[in-house]
Amino acid sequence: MRSQVVIIGGGPSGLLLGQLLHRKGIDAVVLERKTRDYVLGRIRAGVLETGFVNLMREAGVAERMDAESIVHDGTVIAYGEDQFRVDFVEATGESVLVYGQTELTRDLYDAREACGAETLFNVDNVVINGADSDAPYVTFTHEGTEKRIDCDFIAGCDGFHGVSRQTIPLTVRKEYEKVYPFGWLGLLSDTPPVHEELIYSNSERGFALCSQRSWTRSRYYIQCSLSDHAEDWSDQMFWDELRRRLPAETAETLVTGPSIEKSIAPLRSFVTEPMRWGRLFLCGDAAHIVPPTGAKGLNTAASDIHYLYHGLMQFYEEKDSEGIDRYSEKALARIWKAERFSWNTTMMLHRFPDMNGFDLKMQRADLEFLRDNHDAQKVFATNYVGLPF
Ligand code: APR
Ligand code: PHB
Repeated sequence: MRSQVVIIGGGPSGLLLGQLLHRKGIDAVVLERKTRDYVLGRIRAGVLETGFVNLMREAGVAERMDAESIVHDGTVIAYGEDQFRVDFVEATGESVLVYGQTELTRDLYDAREACGAETLFNVDNVVINGADSDAPYVTFTHEGTEKRIDCDFIAGCDGFHGVSRQTIPLTVRKEYEKVYPFGWLGLLSDTPPVHEELIYSNSERGFALCSQRSWTRSRYYIQCSLSDHAEDWSDQMFWDELRRRLPAETAETLVTGPSIEKSIAPLRSFVTEPMRWGRLFLCGDAAHIVPPTGAKGLNTAASDIHYLYHGLMQFYEEKDSEGIDRYSEKALARIWKAERFSWNTTMMLHRFPDMNGFDLKMQRADLEFLRDNHDAQKVFATNYVGLPF
């Protein structure tokens, strides 16, 4: 087989790139290791920056998102019994959209099927060959048969555990990582959200987050130990602990119910450099991971897709490789700023096992400065709504 682009990974990064390229007549085959239902079964976040939203619109996949998403003009930060609001619109003129990653991935799959673009599911033994040559090709097993696709470019959108990053020689690749000494226990429930905006809470018992998927479906998180197991937490234990970590007036209004999903996610900051090796381009989780505190996971994937999509268009439409030649530099410049914001909010909002009195005072001073200083709120809001591409 031959395709201009081979996209490895059928998650939001790969699908969004595939849809954007399809609309420009650039053909791209998506290779996905799992099934569509498996990919859609993963519960992920759901706060979208304007940059991501505009890419979905450019890809022609925004109808349901525009109809069902919720606009958030700000967020609430709680510290013990104290809480304050950061007004995104007042500070930046922009807001964010709340729309589940599962839903937008479903929309992308529907759009891909509707336009007849090719997606191969249940592929295995994916090997990237000749990425450092002018004639790369990908081999893989599909439906029990060895297959090969010759292509011009490969987009590695196969997440943190994919093959793409591993294809870049260690002599070329440099990795940066910070692992946090705690996780997030998340719970999804068909209950009305406790507040119309997100609440990020730093309590003496640890971090908590109140988020939502709709006006009838909520998503909550509490900081937990990495040795915890989700099955050791009954729903009642979760709700009781969440209440303890929210200001009393908020805790009183919390509507609880049976969990639909409950899982623990570790927190990690990770970046690999460079994000390009010859004809191979890494996008999204394949190249970088952020702790979820800044809601940047999906949005950093979107900026990668923006730079690669424009670089490939420039290559195919103008025979100019400037965009793809600068892809890694441009993508990383924005990624590191998102990494900084995600690390900074994680340090400000969580309780670390080795914190001493001075550390706690520093956290309080950080939060009080954010509460009381307009410029600090502007910096927070500017990063939260998303830095320009
Ligand atoms: N071959 C084919 N597909 C693969 C392979 C492989 N060897 N390895 C992994 N995949 C697939 C996975 O099954 C998954 O569907 O690649 C896809 C990668 O998708 P994601 O992990 O969702 O990564 P990405 O598309 O970059 O989305 C980033 O996901 O984890 C969240 O917070 C993160 O929101 C961010 C978003
Ligand atoms: C979520 O809704 O799952 C969510 C929202 C904001 C975050 C992280 C997760 O920072």
